[in-house]
Amino acid sequence: MPVDSTTFRSVLGQWPSGVCVVTTTGPNGLHGMTASSFSSVSLDPPLVSVCLGNHLPSRTLLGDAGKFAISFLGKDQAHIGRRFAGQERGVTDRFAGLDWTMTPNGCPVLSDAVAWLDCTVAHAYPGGDHTIFVGAVTEAALPRVISPLLFHSRNWGQVAQPLPATVQFRETASADGGPRFEFHATGLRDLPSPERVIAAKKAGNCVVGYVADAFNPEREDEVLATIGALGALGCDEIGCVESDVIPASPLQVTRILQDASVRVRPAVLRVRLAGHNRLALVNALVAMKNGVSHFDVVTPGSGTSGLPLGDLLHLSRQLEVAGPIESDLAQIRE
Ligand SMILES: Cc1cc2nc3c(=O)[nH]c(=O)nc-3n(C[C@H](O)[C@H](O)[C@H](O)COP(=O)(O)O)c2cc1C
Repeated sequence: MPVDSTTFRSVLGQWPSGVCVVTTTGPNGLHGMTASSFSSVSLDPPLVSVCLGNHLPSRTLLGDAGKFAISFLGKDQAHIGRRFAGQERGVTDRFAGLDWTMTPNGCPVLSDAVAWLDCTVAHAYPGGDHTIFVGAVTEAALPRVISPLLFHSRNWGQVAQPLPATVQFRETASADGGPRFEFHATGLRDLPSPERVIAAKKAGNCVVGYVADAFNPEREDEVLATIGALGALGCDEIGCVESDVIPASPLQVTRILQDASVRVRPAVLRVRLAGHNRLALVNALVAMKNGVSHFDVVTPGSGTSGLPLGDLLHLSRQLEVAGPIESDLAQIRE
């Protein structure tokens, strides 16, 4: 006996997915729709699939054109997802006011998509009231490093990071953890040369690049660009430092770290918070929720300013996040 359609739809709604815009061209110009049925199919040859409802204009246009492009949406592009699903009232041109790039196949992709794929239709299989289009990928790019937009239970969402399994503390200006080559950069102008970084690595140093004043809302683009550049330089660790003058808000800490955690990989992301900010522990929690498990701390009497080791230790214990063991802490304190 077939499952009843209400139950079936509810069950499908429990499957979380990313969101993309599928675009193609037709006799009347460009066409696009929101889809969550995207799936990777094969690595070699590179194939992907998307399922389009047979009643949709998009299905006919895509089948006729024999080509399509996929733009993966970022966490800040739910409005685009809504628009290309026909959910924005009064919109006659779904493409208007957005920045588009034409692919070699001649399909439009969002210039600020997380990633895009250019495809020619390799197969079109019947799939009940949908058609399963398998596309041979002919071109691909990742224009913007940002966490993805999600769709779950008929709601738009974002990746919610769980707390890390463990946290690690390092005292600011201490030598524990082995030799380090540390530098602070406010922006792209302050970076050391690639040769300097290579030499430091060859000499056995862990290369740590800190971005100063990292949680200043007016510097968001510059901070993220600098983090990206530090990653490209080959830093082993990239640190975000809160300004002593402008206290960081939890909202801004989230904004920066959500994207920084994607950009720094495979480097380790560190955070150095200012101790006198009354929201310091809230910011530490927000940092943990955004994938940070490495913190710079200060110990009483060390003469440096920053988040006290004891406070962070207390927080991690309350959150049941494993921290450094007592003997390691004793070493930090010494
Ligand atoms: C998050 C989301 C995902 C969707 N995924 C699909 C999909 O994978 N396949 C499909 O046929 N329709 C999907 N839709 C519905 C289409 O986007 C919608 O019917 C759109 O208006 C079709 O465009 P068209 O009428 O111009 O062809 C989705 C809608 C939303 C909101």
